Amino acid sequence: MIADTFPAPYALCCLLKWAESRGSTLSQKNLILPHGGSLVDCMVSADAVADAGSLVAITLSPKQVCDLEMIAMGAFSPLTGFVGPEDFKSICTDMRLQNGTVWPIPITLAVDDAIKNSLQEGQSAALHHPDGTLLAIIDVEHLYPHDKQLEIPNVFGTEDEAHPGVKAVMDEGDWLVGGPVRVMTTEASSGDAERFPAHRLTPAQTRQHFADRGWSRVASFQTRNPIHRAHEYLCKCALEICDGLLIHPLVGETKPGDIPADVRMKCYETIIEHYFVADRTMLSVMPGAMRYAGPREAILHALIRQNYGSSHFIVGRDHAGVGDYYGTYDAQLIFDRFSRDEILVEPLRFEHAAWSHRAQGMVSAKTFPKIDGDQVFLSGTKVREMLAKGERPPGEFSRPEVADVLIEWATSVAATV
Ligand code: ADX
Repeated sequence: MIADTFPAPYALCCLLKWAESRGSTLSQKNLILPHGGSLVDCMVSADAVADAGSLVAITLSPKQVCDLEMIAMGAFSPLTGFVGPEDFKSICTDMRLQNGTVWPIPITLAVDDAIKNSLQEGQSAALHHPDGTLLAIIDVEHLYPHDKQLEIPNVFGTEDEAHPGVKAVMDEGDWLVGGPVRVMTTEASSGDAERFPAHRLTPAQTRQHFADRGWSRVASFQTRNPIHRAHEYLCKCALEICDGLLIHPLVGETKPGDIPADVRMKCYETIIEHYFVADRTMLSVMPGAMRYAGPREAILHALIRQNYGSSHFIVGRDHAGVGDYYGTYDAQLIFDRFSRDEILVEPLRFEHAAWSHRAQGMVSAKTFPKIDGDQVFLSGTKVREMLAKGERPPGEFSRPEVADVLIEWATSVAATV
């Protein structure tokens, strides 16, 4: 999945978006404030980074490329760069920046010994895409040891290397570079087409779309999976109490085995076409990387969506979880640790939902009595097997139009194995 979901560098359209978004804040008064009060914008024109050729070059990992894009466009507001040692420590231990602002996961730039030895605090360094394209300049304010023993148990609640987020941090360099970034917005394309250009909106742009549509109460839906009936149910319940819905799939780095973002995007487009009201629903991508950090990542996902202008955020069962590392509702309970003026976006907490034959509809333990064998539960493995054989899962689990998109993908993968 790494190669499939790797975002391309910023191309010309990014410059256009940047220019567009800078002049687009006028009619957004009714929307929720960004986290920390204002949207960060770290994008600069090419001339502003003309001296990059003489700088130490750091080649970013796919996860770091994702993080850089998120910082650049303000999706990680109030962060203006990769974190320094004081913020790192206080995020890991207290889920806050040094100044007290809530922030659950450190956004770090890890480097190896060779890079560390070639850098000094007070210098700048050039940040490159793995294909060599210059993306940004970082002012190296801090160069400090990567305290993985502090980060891993605090952020992930486990040190098990079988956990994909733990493994990703373990594999990173032993030094961290902290400091603000200036991200280039020129036609410095590597030849990769920018992915999902029609749906790749900055926070300033989604805010403008909401304002244009007259939405002030907007529910957003994070997902990294193809959309199934329970997802659809959550989205529609949320929409009932809001003006609009933002389906906001994560399309950045995911673990091997997750379904590629382009296949998922086809599923979202298909379900919106057939089962959602166009005027009330918007599809846009969230180019961040997945950490699989369960509760802490739920907070991060919520704050990101606040930055994109959402007033409400859907948190269902085992949000951003993987395996059995987190309790079913841990990602909901963690919000109780913060006051409403610390996290402005409102979490919409949903119980585990499934189709009930008896009720002839989607239910949860809150809305319909539990009857043995009544509800449709299918494991991911079972669904994959059915799709690879060209079989649609039951309509109570997946809309047939979505199942057909997945069958086309799963059978083509099966044919190449
Ligand atoms: S996640 O990693 O992005 O959380 P996924 O795409 O499966 O994974 O889930 C998207 C959202 O839907 C999350 O908030 C998750 O908790 C919620 N969710 C998924 N399936 C269900 C379900 N059957 N019942 C309730 N919530 C669910």
